[in-house]
Amino acid sequence: MAGQVADKVALVTGGASGIGQAIAELLAEQGATVVVTDVDELKGPDVVTGIRKAGGGEAIFLHHDVTSEERWAEVVAEIKRRFGRLDVLVSNAGIGIGAPSIVEMSLADWRRQTAINLDGVFLSVKYSLPLMRKGGRGGSIVLMSSLAGLRGSATLAGYSATKGGVRLFAKSVAMECASAGDGIRVNSVHPGIIDTPIWGKIPAGGSASGQNAPIDAQELARMATPLGRAGEAREIAQGVLFLASDASSYMTGAELVIDGGMFAGTAVRRT
Ligand code: NAI
Repeated sequence: MAGQVADKVALVTGGASGIGQAIAELLAEQGATVVVTDVDELKGPDVVTGIRKAGGGEAIFLHHDVTSEERWAEVVAEIKRRFGRLDVLVSNAGIGIGAPSIVEMSLADWRRQTAINLDGVFLSVKYSLPLMRKGGRGGSIVLMSSLAGLRGSATLAGYSATKGGVRLFAKSVAMECASAGDGIRVNSVHPGIIDTPIWGKIPAGGSASGQNAPIDAQELARMATPLGRAGEAREIAQGVLFLASDASSYMTGAELVIDGGMFAGTAVRRT
């Protein structure tokens, strides 16, 4: 079928919810064969069922913890066995753990967050790149960072450290691929406040404060975002589609900020 990513095979980690789900759906809508992976074995298959019903590209679900090196080897081997190649990697799986003060963050929480947000991204590239290179037709790697990877956030220091790491990891792998001349482009995406289930999973004041009220993304965005609203997962997916497609063929090592203007400055709205 025709589409902006027709004939491409794409892997989307953390594809069972929020931004990853929207990316998987949009890539399939635009003709890609999509491998949706996630630790969530309940929602993951539902996403794939929805994609099949919508009638776009083919989709499968694989249970996958991105922190497991062993599972990464199996997932990539399965993609090779079923589809013979991989053109697009979207390393999206991530969690956010807040803490009222970095002094109160436990080492266990720091390590859990780093294992998913940073080790998982490292493993995604380590295991996907050889198969992408073998295909011999280039490819696109999209790593999900955050606005928190570009600037500091009180209560989210650990999260920012992982996302800042993803940002420079993307640029360095982009330089490796450019040096190798393998045609594989690597870019990072930096969403602002996007209304997904992640906000309900972050303890508001950090677990140590005892305040566990979920954060209301819409309310937060009304105050903090120049455009005055939270973004939708689909609005991030549109940016990822651009980076995954040949429309972005001259982009590598770049950062795509999709944040309703937050990184640019502070707007004074009159309404
Ligand atoms: P979400 O919580 O809706 O989805 C995250 C998905 O990752 C879930 O399906 C979850 O099961 C999966 N996941 C968690 N641990 C995993 C693991 N070990 N292995 C595999 N899958 C795992 O969150 P959302 O908002 O869709 O976030 C997606 C990405 O976007 C994350 O990397 C997040 O840090 C990033 N992001 C989100 C923003 C937002 O405002 N929602 C802002 C900036 C970045």
